[in-house]
Amino acid sequence: MAKYSTFSLACVLLYLNDVATAASINSYNGLGLTPQMGWDNWNAFACEVNEELLLGTSEKIVQLGLRDLGYKYVILDDCWSSGRAANGSLVADSKKFPNGMKHVADELHGKDLLFGMYSSAGEYTCGGYPGSLDHEDADATSFASWDVDYLKYDNCFNRGQFGTPETSFKRYKAMSDALNKTGRPIFYSLCNWGQDLTSYWGSAISNSWRISGDITASFDRPDSRCPCDEDDYDCKLPGFHCSIMNILGKAAPMGQNAGPGGWNDLDCLEVGVGSLTDDEEVAHFSMWSIVKSPLVIGADVNKLDSTSYSVYANPAVIAINQDPAGVPATRIWRKQVPQVDGNGKGEIQLWSGPLDNGDQVVALLNGASIPMTMTAKVDDIFIDSDEVSVSSWIAYDLWANRLANSTASSIVQGGSLDYSKYYNATELPYASGLAKNDSRLLGQPVANVSIKSPLSAYVPAHGVALYRLKKA
Ligand code: GAL
Repeated sequence: MAKYSTFSLACVLLYLNDVATAASINSYNGLGLTPQMGWDNWNAFACEVNEELLLGTSEKIVQLGLRDLGYKYVILDDCWSSGRAANGSLVADSKKFPNGMKHVADELHGKDLLFGMYSSAGEYTCGGYPGSLDHEDADATSFASWDVDYLKYDNCFNRGQFGTPETSFKRYKAMSDALNKTGRPIFYSLCNWGQDLTSYWGSAISNSWRISGDITASFDRPDSRCPCDEDDYDCKLPGFHCSIMNILGKAAPMGQNAGPGGWNDLDCLEVGVGSLTDDEEVAHFSMWSIVKSPLVIGADVNKLDSTSYSVYANPAVIAINQDPAGVPATRIWRKQVPQVDGNGKGEIQLWSGPLDNGDQVVALLNGASIPMTMTAKVDDIFIDSDEVSVSSWIAYDLWANRLANSTASSIVQGGSLDYSKYYNATELPYASGLAKNDSRLLGQPVANVSIKSPLSAYVPAHGVALYRLKKA
């Protein structure tokens, strides 16, 4: 041992750490090799849940082509139960779900969709319904007997069993083990709001984990109900009413712990919920996609307007999220924007990340409230690569092929889809489409990029310019 200095030991450890980050993590249960996609009722309907809502929504998901873009999980959130039976098993509220949960699962499976359920690692759920703490085996057995495919597992009323990574890990592992024991593949989605450093232990027992308190449909409004900011890694009071920029900031340092099998969950999408601008919705969807967050629609899909629909329905952006390598993009730099007539508040950021086939995704994010010309140098974009000086790339604008508003309008009004143009991931999974360079997944070539010619774009306020770079 005396032969090795502390310095060389540190080097070996650093090297091993690098190798570990480069290799993909493994799925603990074989699921979630790419981030989950689907719909969850919470953002738009909160506790107003019933069978009609889920089945009606699932029909619309199919008609809009969203299922075939990959949005497969239909997730029933809180407030579905009426208590426990004499034998201790969870009972579905018979007014809301007159035909029971197995019926909902059968109907969804009949449409080639998957069924997600909700419970809490606490005595009660956040809405005050029975939780699964100390009932893990019985409840997992019920979920499996109803043919559930997914469990979102919340954190309310946890009897104080949090405060260290160990206490939280143990509480969430109990359900992980119980689900595994059922023998049914059930995607396990932790919802403990990032408390107790979830991203450091989540992948050992689950397929995704929330990293923040609840999202709200605001781009960057500070709100004291969401007290933790991005520098507060070990956030004890995650709160709620967290803005898009707040949550994105929390995701920035956490990419290294996510990969195929386990993902940082930035919460359901607010596209089509509230009154975000179109540029904000495009930025929100783009950023969730590139950091490999689950893409879970939070809107009432029956009332989606054409612009929000065409955000959810952009296969070139979804293909970044579903890229087989599953490497979350990294924030390379951030710069404060000076006040301009009191309006320039905010910051601009460069994000970049490698993709499976040697391509690179790049986002020029304008978090400021004025439009900006933004420029990204190649040695910043490829900060982790050594080929920079010799190569050149073609930048594909990933929003260039967004559905025309007239087409999107006709589809949301019930019109049919032209599958010769519309991407169908059920038939051609993203990995296969990417391997074939399917043009629907590439956007449009717009610029050549090299060490001499940086990537530059005029980016709207609270907006993004998003590119796939391919070697020329
Ligand atoms: C919160 C959770 C939300 C939603 C809600 C239901 O704790 O973060 O996503 O599930 O509970 O009561």
